Amino acid sequence: MKALVYHGPGQKAWEEVPDAAIQEPTDVVVRVDTTTICGTDLHILHGDVAAVTDGRILGHEAVGTVTEAGEAVKGFAVGDRVLVPAITKCGRCEYCQRGMPSHCQTVGGIGWIFGHLIDGTQAESVRVPYADTSLYAVPANVTNEQAIFLADSLPTGYEVGVLAGQVRPGDTVAVVGAGAVGLSAILTTGLWGASKVIAVDSNKFRLDKALEFGATDAVEAGPNAAADVIALTDGLGVDVSIEAVGYPETLLTTASLVRPGGHIANIGVHGVPVELPMQEMWIQNVTLTMGLVDTVSIPTLLKMVASGRIPAEKMGTHTFTFDQMDDAYDVFKNAASNSALKVIITPA
Ligand SMILES: NC(=O)c1ccc[n+]([C@@H]2O[C@H](COP(=O)([O-])OP(=O)(O)OC[C@H]3O[C@@H](n4cnc5c(N)ncnc54)[C@H](O)[C@@H]3O)[C@@H](O)[C@H]2O)c1
Ligand SMILES: [Zn+2]
Ligand SMILES: [Zn+2]
Repeated sequence: MKALVYHGPGQKAWEEVPDAAIQEPTDVVVRVDTTTICGTDLHILHGDVAAVTDGRILGHEAVGTVTEAGEAVKGFAVGDRVLVPAITKCGRCEYCQRGMPSHCQTVGGIGWIFGHLIDGTQAESVRVPYADTSLYAVPANVTNEQAIFLADSLPTGYEVGVLAGQVRPGDTVAVVGAGAVGLSAILTTGLWGASKVIAVDSNKFRLDKALEFGATDAVEAGPNAAADVIALTDGLGVDVSIEAVGYPETLLTTASLVRPGGHIANIGVHGVPVELPMQEMWIQNVTLTMGLVDTVSIPTLLKMVASGRIPAEKMGTHTFTFDQMDDAYDVFKNAASNSALKVIITPA
């Protein structure tokens, strides 16, 4: 079969590799019908993720069809259309039982293993360990082009942003960073009845998208952004402030927007330390949350997509085939200048 193989920083190739095959009775093999690229794949190609070594097949998001099932697999059979999420879980370890499979001890000490600790989904086929507890059946009326965004971006914005930030009816919410993850937070914040959702981004295209995805206001990032957001909340600041970029300055902006008693939900992956003004924050009765997505909200999100409440298909702006993998990466890498959000990649 063919797959996108990582060969060290800056090096990748769509090339011939051995076929994905069952290794454990709890595995299935899934033919990949739709995959996508995540910002994390770009981090890997920069050489930022040391655990990913030469020869690893990239990707941690897929929708596909089961082509082979291990003898212990009970919940899935050959021919089933399934969502392969970013997180793999055993369902039995301490963290899985606490509903935190992002830290599944069994699959690798961390739930994110595809395209990281084992071969991933940017391939014609992928081996899926712990299939019964990790895969999701895709409802007939949900398309592959919708389901693919439930593998990572949508649950991330929802779980690490909206749920961790405890958005409640009537709340005012700010989302700093309107990429796929920030837009996912914006899309799902409405489900909790936020009265105002303010998007902050430095890119005009992304701000326009944010308004399309349900933001009520768009604020350009810059020295006046905090004052602009606070003015939109009668001078109080927001109830929930969500960070979806991953830089020190954007976390500082996010923290400066929240009112006393509010919540700061950091989603961004940070590469350097951030100095927070604790001398000002300690007295504000605020909470600050952060973490890796668990993807446990997928069943809820699948129902919302199936019923039309979440227009997940809006996330895909460009479509490519497997043999155009390099073009897909080029467009995604320069997403803002290409008016791109997420790319959809299919066999043909
Ligand atoms: N916690 C998790 O489990 C998890 C999972 C997936 C992704 N992430 C992280 O979430 C973050 C967002 O991911 P994404 O895929 O949406 O990324 P993205 O690059 O598509 O989006 C980032 C957005 O931030 C905007 N931006 C850049 N600088 C800014 C600034 N100074 N002020 C305001 N906006 C600015 C960009 O224009 C862009 O729209 C990343 O850090 C990613 O690594 C976290
Ligand atoms: Zn990802
Ligand atoms: Zn586990």
